Amino acid sequence: MTTIPKINLGNNGPLVSKIGLGCMRMSPVWGSQANDENESIATIQMALDSGINFLNTGDFYGSGHNELLVGKAIKGRRGDAFISVKFGAIFYNNQWIGLDLRPIAIKNFINYSLVRLGVETIDLYQPCRLDNSVPVEDVIGTVADLIQDGKVRHLGVSEITADQLRKANSIHPVTALEIGYSLADRQIESDLLPTAKELGIGVVAFANTAEGLLSGDMKAPLAPDAYQNHFPRFQGENLIRNLEKVALLKQMAREKGYTPTQLAIAWVNAQGEQIMPLVSMSRRSRLPENIEAMSIAFTAEELNLLHTHFAPGAILGGTYLQR
Ligand SMILES: NC(=O)c1ccc[n+]([C@@H]2O[C@H](COP(=O)([O-])OP(=O)(O)OC[C@H]3O[C@@H](n4cnc5c(N)ncnc54)[C@H](OP(=O)(O)O)[C@@H]3O)[C@@H](O)[C@H]2O)c1
Repeated sequence: MTTIPKINLGNNGPLVSKIGLGCMRMSPVWGSQANDENESIATIQMALDSGINFLNTGDFYGSGHNELLVGKAIKGRRGDAFISVKFGAIFYNNQWIGLDLRPIAIKNFINYSLVRLGVETIDLYQPCRLDNSVPVEDVIGTVADLIQDGKVRHLGVSEITADQLRKANSIHPVTALEIGYSLADRQIESDLLPTAKELGIGVVAFANTAEGLLSGDMKAPLAPDAYQNHFPRFQGENLIRNLEKVALLKQMAREKGYTPTQLAIAWVNAQGEQIMPLVSMSRRSRLPENIEAMSIAFTAEELNLLHTHFAPGAILGGTYLQR
């Protein structure tokens, strides 16, 4: 089995596995059904046993359901896990209805997260977005207060611009940026990734399969109840053209003896020492395949081919972040 390397998250930051476990899809989000609870807990525990210590959750994933799952999975083995939590999103009837980033709200959110997780400190705590409703100084300043109080170890941010990243980092050092990144979504290469690198901030890269587009399993049209139907890249002619693009990844995967998902994860992994693929896995059977992806190397020719074929803008229907 592939040994999972450890990296420092950001310059001299905490030591974490080079691949992270995204727990979001274990819980009902955006109207999906909850995964089998025993399987979810067993998956988290198998990930920890395999050397994946970075666990990603959010207080709004299933309205606390996801944190409760993580809490059960790490009971008695807190030291094995590095827990990353997002806050600030407000859901109602399975729909995102806004952000609450007020300091008084954040101080309330963290109490509930600590109880649900059954821990005294959250390793990485991050607003899920920033907006103009609350000055960024107040949002970041509140997390800095939580660090001072011992409730949080490190500050993270999620889905923000390069300017916002600089601003946040000037208020309190940012340890990690969580951001969508894949062969299908490379627009962050122009300024956000270089900014994170310059500032010594680790990159936690999610949606490596572009929500299944790069998995090789997707067919047009999608099932009527697929949540991806809401987004232009998965609709009508866009999806047909986008799946034609993915054919090259499928062919390369066949030739190399891997799956398209493995290549999609391996490509993100290959983008730098400071970049961690954060992969959703809701069942134990996913782990061997996705862990093996961390040992896949590309030749220079393969990388050139992928970069040309999946140049920014090659996937029709807008980017992950634009939607
Ligand atoms: N910061 C943010 O705004 C934000 C937004 C979205 C997600 N996230 C975080 O990032 C994590 C990953 O994001 P994501 O779920 O959007 O993307 P992803 O990792 O690309 O996962 C998408 C889907 O791929 C499936 N999958 C995993 N391994 C596979 C394999 N080997 N073959 C075929 N399919 C496979 C997963 O299914 P199963 O679940 O059935 O295993 C999952 O439903 C989330 O869990 C969450 O923690 C953060």
